Amino acid sequence: MKELSRFLYGGDYNPDQWPEDTWSQDIEVFKKADINSASINIFSWALLEPEEGKYDFSKLDKIVEELSENNFDIVMATSTAAMPAWMFKKYPDVARVDYQGRRHKFGQRHNFCPNSINYQRLAKHLVEKIVQRYYKNPHIAVWHVNNEYGGNCYCENCQKEFRIWLKNRYQTLDNLNKAWNNNVWSHTIYNWDEIVVPNELGDAWGNEVSETIVPGLSIDYLRFQSEKLQDLFNMEKTIIKKYDPEALVTTNFHSLPNKMIDYQKWAKDQDIISYDSYPAYNAPNYLPAFLYDLMRSLKHQPFMLMESTPSQVNWQSYSPLKHPGQMQATEFQAVAHGANTVQFFQLKQAVGGSEKYHGAVIGHSQRTDTRVFKEVADLGKKLKKVGPKILHTNNESKVGIIFDWSNFWSYEYVDGISQDFNYMSEILDYYRQFYERNIPVDIIGVDDNFDRYNLIVAPVLYMVKPGLDKKINKYVKKGGRFITTFMSGMVNESDNIYIGGYPGPLKEVTGIWVEESDAVIPNQKITASFDKAELQCGLICDLIHPISAKVLARYSSEFYAGTPAVTVNDYGKGKAWYIGSKFKHGSLSRIMDYILTTCRIQSLANSSLEITCRKDMSGKKYYFVLNMSNEAQMLPDKFLNYKDIITDSLPTKKVKPWQVLILN
Ligand code: GLA
Ligand code: ZN
Repeated sequence: MKELSRFLYGGDYNPDQWPEDTWSQDIEVFKKADINSASINIFSWALLEPEEGKYDFSKLDKIVEELSENNFDIVMATSTAAMPAWMFKKYPDVARVDYQGRRHKFGQRHNFCPNSINYQRLAKHLVEKIVQRYYKNPHIAVWHVNNEYGGNCYCENCQKEFRIWLKNRYQTLDNLNKAWNNNVWSHTIYNWDEIVVPNELGDAWGNEVSETIVPGLSIDYLRFQSEKLQDLFNMEKTIIKKYDPEALVTTNFHSLPNKMIDYQKWAKDQDIISYDSYPAYNAPNYLPAFLYDLMRSLKHQPFMLMESTPSQVNWQSYSPLKHPGQMQATEFQAVAHGANTVQFFQLKQAVGGSEKYHGAVIGHSQRTDTRVFKEVADLGKKLKKVGPKILHTNNESKVGIIFDWSNFWSYEYVDGISQDFNYMSEILDYYRQFYERNIPVDIIGVDDNFDRYNLIVAPVLYMVKPGLDKKINKYVKKGGRFITTFMSGMVNESDNIYIGGYPGPLKEVTGIWVEESDAVIPNQKITASFDKAELQCGLICDLIHPISAKVLARYSSEFYAGTPAVTVNDYGKGKAWYIGSKFKHGSLSRIMDYILTTCRIQSLANSSLEITCRKDMSGKKYYFVLNMSNEAQMLPDKFLNYKDIITDSLPTKKVKPWQVLILN
């Protein structure tokens, strides 16, 4: 398979929104910023196929030619994410039906039904034409399939396919009724055609990804839709590979992350992972860091930063500008966590439409003496210099945090006992502990290889599918360290409770059982004592009975004062900690200090700077030191003798606001 032959710097470019005689000027401007790549043809279906079966590639030919002549690496999209008007008119089934049962009309984008035979046929034809025409062009570096897949359809065709999918999964109605525990509320099904997709007027309510009456049904529907969209991706990928088996194919993942798509299942079909990053202006720095670590861990390989904004977005409630220097720091943050490209949306700011106020490399002034352009050009110079050195390096971690889509779905569908269950929040509580200590972590799925880690953290491992408990037991028995929390080991893959006390199949490794769980009311102060300190916790308090575990912390308030809140169990050669409540950040830090010392987990450096490390094949290390703040920070002494490969000089003790060093 092909690889990126250089570090890509560029982004989404929509020359088809502009007169042809402007294109060569644009390219000259991009070159001034050392931009070497453009993603094109993302939403051009209506221009490429003005009526069914009639194709017009004249514009795209010229764009491809112009970029090729200028030695750009082209990220070639397939244009299937936004459908032309004639398609909606001629084949209404191509449009998605929403959760409220309303069929989409012409407009918007990303709103095709994955089970529409007409959509599938027309997309297939279009992609075949595009690939046939351009696959021999050596400037096409990456194929970008569709765009930001996500979102469910609830139409009749989906319902039909869902019934078939369920038949395959469960074989008999008896199995299905058991899996969904259908004797509740007279839900027993006697015929496959009685199955109805989840929707607001049926077995669901309010929010399609967090409220349901029948969790088994709703979780299966998310699995089904994610698979069907994945089939669409693979349909396009197969066409590309038919012509160019060596092609590098990807689709851009997105959101925080996207809940509806199981990226861990999709990862195996991606030749390279790509991600669109738009953290909110007030998001903590550890949030994008987490997302980059997740993207890198999907294939344990560097990924593409497919989109990001050079200045501001237009679609958040407030879209402030990035401060001078901040853009470079945020782009380098992705690189520090494993990105091998820096790409923007958009290279040229649109003149009309919904994204005309979205930041761009070439802004509306169309000048190159602007702050944004100058910063983009400066970043280009830096990337040109350091890109070749870091292209073949990777991040290494001895800690894995489990982030699992089935848990994401099932944990947030829980009806009770607190409305504040939020999977990301529980995961981020733990991620932040490592981020602030500069301890590298991978964000892994339950099917990943556990043996490469010294410590695995599994916050709210709510759904434990068959075999996972044994895998964890084996890992710990051999000497692995394992942390899990409240709301773990509760249900099987169909969301039915493991009988016999919580945390179900994790009782053995944790050496405890939980009798009850208290929901903590906001502002209710619950404390626990740990090593003479008073800790604060909330959300849930598990009432724990140790079996073989030792108690590390005990509640010091409520009627369960004196009972265990945190325990540790020696199991084989390893240890398993159970943290029975959501501890406030500072309190959790104390517990983690203790656990990490016990596990002898090393930090790259104790510092308020963000520090990561990428290593090449020969073991050469590049330390990324990022000041992700508006204030100067002190560089840890141990780095003072390293050379910064951005400036080819020794670093100074003070790292300026938003400054980035790559030390070698
Ligand atoms: C998404 C899309 C782009 C663009 C950007 C704007 O990531 O993929 O087409 O709309 O958002 O931020
Ligand atoms: Zn549908």
